[in-house]
Amino acid sequence: MERFYITTPIYYVNSTPHIGHAYTTIAADILVRNRRQRGAETFFLTGVDEHAAKVARVAAEQGLSPQEYADQIAVVWRELPERLNASNDFFIRTSDDAHKRFVQGFLQRLFDNGHIYQDVYSGLYCVGCEAFKTDADLVDGKCPEHDSAPDWIEERNWFFRLSSFQQQLLDLYEQADFVLPGFRANEAKSFIAGGLQDFSISRAGQTWGIPIPWDPDSVAYVWADALVNYLSALTYARPGEDLVETFWPEVRHLLAKDILRFHCVYWPAMLLGAGYEPPRQLFVHGYLLLDDRKISKSLGNVVDPLDLIDVYGVDPVRFWCARAVSFGQDGAASIVGVHERYERELGNDLGNLLSRTTAMVARYRSGTLRAVMSPEGAVAGALAPLAADVAARLDDFDITGALERIWEVVRLLNREVETTAPWQLAKDPLRADDLDRVLYDLVDGLRVVAVVLAAYVPATAVAILEAICQPPALDWAQVAYGLTGETTGIEASPPLFPRLDSPVE
Ligand code: MSP
Repeated sequence: MERFYITTPIYYVNSTPHIGHAYTTIAADILVRNRRQRGAETFFLTGVDEHAAKVARVAAEQGLSPQEYADQIAVVWRELPERLNASNDFFIRTSDDAHKRFVQGFLQRLFDNGHIYQDVYSGLYCVGCEAFKTDADLVDGKCPEHDSAPDWIEERNWFFRLSSFQQQLLDLYEQADFVLPGFRANEAKSFIAGGLQDFSISRAGQTWGIPIPWDPDSVAYVWADALVNYLSALTYARPGEDLVETFWPEVRHLLAKDILRFHCVYWPAMLLGAGYEPPRQLFVHGYLLLDDRKISKSLGNVVDPLDLIDVYGVDPVRFWCARAVSFGQDGAASIVGVHERYERELGNDLGNLLSRTTAMVARYRSGTLRAVMSPEGAVAGALAPLAADVAARLDDFDITGALERIWEVVRLLNREVETTAPWQLAKDPLRADDLDRVLYDLVDGLRVVAVVLAAYVPATAVAILEAICQPPALDWAQVAYGLTGETTGIEASPPLFPRLDSPVE
């Protein structure tokens, strides 16, 4: 059986979730739900990264210990995947005891394998990035990401011999799809080819973090702790089971370009050093930039973009994330765009198709659907390549392209309604069979669309199947023409996506 393990970055808890975090979690959920439909054994991991200096800083500002602060805010972060209807199998916190123990064992392995040495680090550290900086990283002495001057630190640290992994890393990049998209792989490759500096895996004189096992006065550098979550979680997510054997190295890491180096360079090298296989694949997506238009008070002042879910519902927000910009690229998106897609694509293209089709079955056939098929017809022709096309695109992480492919079918079904004009057929008793055929094709098309859309809009998919009186069978074999069963009881479906006021004043 195919195995598919997918991860999101574990998010810093120094602030609350926003739509950017939701974006990666939704993308991962779409990919894993689809794999599940296709019969793979899957595991989906998300969670939070707690041992950052910036977390300790915020805690101190609030007069709390870092752990007290993290315990409070972790509740909010745990709600993120729930509100997104994400089907994660586990939610990791880096303050979990089992994670801490695993990290210590992992670092000890690096040490025992001779990849760690002690040296004095003197240089710059940006708390915003939680990264050591060189002059070349700065603009006018400031970190361009955070517009603030990094701290000067001078301390005795433990270093990881990243430089000795250069060739092994370059060899990994020979595998064409190790990092996707290709332009991101090139970015990582040229960084590696440019020469690698060893990096510090410890911080001295700090208490918030995991103690270095052979030097308990130091703690692990937050990235040396956080990256290891992808492995550690597998050892304790299911009590009594070690999932490392099952899922490592069949892992796909999703992340945005901000943390490419840590994932595409440091992490594979750390794994090789500790005696593990490198990850199977990494996908680096772009940044989604949301405009800051003023949001209508009547809709509750949508300040936190996650509140979009309260206004539009979770499926429209998931749909929009997949569709707003081509997944992998950077893109500017707007709240107005959410509304437009809600109305035009979900409301009109999909919602109206369901309402019209069910209304016609109810009106012309008293809710009964006869199984009269047209294997040579336009609908059968359009559905035939769909399963393979959508799967192939999703295997390339092309969430946007797969959805566009599905939408071609939605548009075709809408055209079918217009060209076959069932309301005309209904007037002519001699064309009763033709009407049955048209109605069957429309309902069957809707069923298939529901199944392929289930990974994107899980609740909507089930609602469509219910409206056409079909069982909630979502396995990929259902993505084929002619599997709708004869049924009675189809009623005119109320709108899937009721009209809403525009959110922008
Ligand atoms: N804690 C580290 C990750 C450790 S993983 C071992 C971290 N956390 S973070 O909270 O800053 O999350 C960064 C990630 O959040 C990005 O890589 C991306 O997945 C997601 N995004 C945050 N803002 C985003 C956008 N505006 N657009 C798209 N993704 C965004 O880095």
